[in-house]
Amino acid sequence: MTDNTMTDTDDLKTHLLVAIEASASLDALEAVRVDALGKQGRVTQLLKTMGALSPEERQARGPAIHGLREAVTSAIAARKSHLEQVALDAQLASEALDMTLPADAPLPGTVHPVSQVMDELAEIFADLGFAVASGPEMETDWHNFGALNIPETHPARAMHDTFYLAGREDSDPNDRETPRVLRTHTSPVQIRTMLANKPPIRIIAPGRTYRSDSDATHTPMFHQVEGLVIDKGITLGHLKWTLETFLKAFFERDDIVLRLRPSYFPFTEPSAEVDVGYSVVKGKRVIGGSEGWMEVLGSGMVHPKVIEACGLDPDEWQGFAFGCGIDRLAMLKYGMDDLRPFFDGDIRWLKHYGFSALDMPTLSGGVGTPA
Ligand code: PHE
Repeated sequence: MTDNTMTDTDDLKTHLLVAIEASASLDALEAVRVDALGKQGRVTQLLKTMGALSPEERQARGPAIHGLREAVTSAIAARKSHLEQVALDAQLASEALDMTLPADAPLPGTVHPVSQVMDELAEIFADLGFAVASGPEMETDWHNFGALNIPETHPARAMHDTFYLAGREDSDPNDRETPRVLRTHTSPVQIRTMLANKPPIRIIAPGRTYRSDSDATHTPMFHQVEGLVIDKGITLGHLKWTLETFLKAFFERDDIVLRLRPSYFPFTEPSAEVDVGYSVVKGKRVIGGSEGWMEVLGSGMVHPKVIEACGLDPDEWQGFAFGCGIDRLAMLKYGMDDLRPFFDGDIRWLKHYGFSALDMPTLSGGVGTPA
């Protein structure tokens, strides 16, 4: 390939620089590089001739030859990075997804059972006149404990395995603005709702809650739903009727039997834990009947101190509250026996237990019809 007529370095330089600039692809550029700088390349040949030159000639011609090699090398590098950029741009343009196009295949995702149960709860309680309320997951001590009649020294605080937030030591436990804990239950939403709304109040508050606990039936993050009714003349009878109506609608059975057991929560008086009866069918526990009892929720009449902490007169306003684990409800209704896969994000589990996004729970259609 050596062109013997073109030995003049300036002409060669011009020729090579034009060829480099004209190469339209990385392959073409590589061919030019080999032609110039390869073992048999023209610049390489020229460099080899330097050995045969006299010291004077070398001094005269050396800088031009070395200059040629440098100019060609850097022109190739510049052209190479330009061509690579062009190739990358073309690839990105060809791989672009138009997110505004309508889907032409069935939706691949499923609705998580926890979301499904939350939708079912909202649907059931909306029919009873309850609104859906919410509160922050990073909560103040005051909302999570103090206002719920759980003072700093109360043993119930230890029962909650609380996750404390950084900076807690330097802040005031009665500060109503600065978050100090991850909420250990949804009960602080009772406080926020009573502070922000005039009674009568009827709300449910589903959401995430956190406790430092982990085994087959406990995860550090889990879900609860809170219920709160504040009105005049509210009694335990209203609580029992509401829970019975809710659980019958949720499990879609009329043979739901409830058992209220006296219990203790600092924010309710009296307090009751609620068990729901189950039967054993083919060795499996099925909700309904009363062969055995399973605890499903905590409840009670809202403590006068809690009503007072929210600026209401407990002689005028009474109410009931309940709190229930949503994950547990989902397990009981849809037959999962381990809680941990709920939060693994395993696509196979989600396909098996998930619900169609288009299958919204409605009372008329049955709130829990599986996809
Ligand atoms: N917050 C309680 C818990 O997490 C449940 C509860 C809510 C009990 C409301 C009574 C009234 O265990």
